[in-house]
Amino acid sequence: MRTQVAIIGAGPAGLLLSHILHRNGIDSVVLERQTRAHVLERIRAGVLEAGTIALLREVGLGERMDREGHPHDGSWIAWEGRPRFLIDTRKYTGKPMMAYGQTAITEDLFAARDAAGGKIVDEAADVRLHELTSSKPYVTYEKGGEQVRIDCDYVAGCDGYHGVSRPSIPLDVMKTYDKGYPFGWLGIMSETPPYPDICYCYHSRGFALASQRSPMLSRYYIQCDLDDKIDDWPDERFWAEFLARCPPDMAGSIVTGPSIEKSIAPLRSFVAEPMRYGRLFLAGDAAHIVPPTGAKGLNLAVSDVFYLSRALIEACRKGNPAYLDSYSDTALRRVWGAARMSWWLTMLLHRFPNETPFEEQMRLNQFDYLHASEHAAATLAEQYVGLPY
Ligand code: APR
Ligand code: PHB
Repeated sequence: MRTQVAIIGAGPAGLLLSHILHRNGIDSVVLERQTRAHVLERIRAGVLEAGTIALLREVGLGERMDREGHPHDGSWIAWEGRPRFLIDTRKYTGKPMMAYGQTAITEDLFAARDAAGGKIVDEAADVRLHELTSSKPYVTYEKGGEQVRIDCDYVAGCDGYHGVSRPSIPLDVMKTYDKGYPFGWLGIMSETPPYPDICYCYHSRGFALASQRSPMLSRYYIQCDLDDKIDDWPDERFWAEFLARCPPDMAGSIVTGPSIEKSIAPLRSFVAEPMRYGRLFLAGDAAHIVPPTGAKGLNLAVSDVFYLSRALIEACRKGNPAYLDSYSDTALRRVWGAARMSWWLTMLLHRFPNETPFEEQMRLNQFDYLHASEHAAATLAEQYVGLPY
């Protein structure tokens, strides 16, 4: 088989890249390790930055998002014993935000690729990348007991944190930055009307977050211990803990109900650089992970794909490699910005084990400063809505 761009991974990064390339007359094949059903079952975040919304509209993927997504003017921080604070993205940036789940975006992308006859190979086993520093790279995989080879001009590594692309880069040309946090997020989905706002709660019992997917689908999270298991958290215990961490008026208006999904995820920050090795280009979680506080993961995958699609289009159509050469630096500038914002918001909103009273005061003062200073409020709003591409 031959294609111009071999794309590894059918998450939002790989599918969106393949969609944009197709709109620009560039052929690609997407190789996905899992079944499509498995990919669509994964529940991830759902807050879209202004740039993500604009890009999805521009590439013809805005129709369902505009119909079913919930536009909003910012998110709230509810701090124990303090007045509530709005991250007022409309006031400070004038830009829109949207609650629309990653699962729905992935469905929209599959539908668009199917309608265009796009080639997505699922259950592609043992994907391997070859000759990445030559002008003729190729990719091999196994399906149904057969070995397949795809010759290509470029390889896009969109296969997430556990993929094969990043480990295909020799360790001596890659630098990685890693930071773990001493807690996880326990998340549930419930078929109940959501709390009207996205609200981050800081409480001495720990962090909690109310979010939303649709008029009858809510998403809630609480900070939990790293070694907690799902079985430790039956619904009754989850709700009791969640409600205890919200301000009383908020707790009074939350509609609880049985969970239809429940999972625990550890929090971490990770960045690999450069995001290029020869003809391999990394995008999305393959190159970086941010903690979910601030919901930057999906938005970063989209901005990477914006830069990478532009670069591949210039290279394939005009033979101009300039944007490919600057891809890693350009993408990483935005990645580090989001990494810092997610880290900062994580530090602000969580309880850390063995914290000193001094550290608690520093956190409290950070929050009071947000309330007191237009500049501080504007800085957070600008980052929350997403820095421009
Ligand atoms: N071969 C083929 N496919 C693979 C391989 C492999 N060796 N390893 C992983 N994959 C697939 C995964 O099954 C997954 O479908 O690559 C895809 C990567 O998708 P995501 O993990 O969703 O990553 P990405 O597209 O970069 O999207 C980033 O997803 O994890 C969230 O918070 C993150 O919202 C962010 C977004
Ligand atoms: C979500 O809706 O899943 C969500 C919202 C905001 C976040 C993280 C996740 O910061």
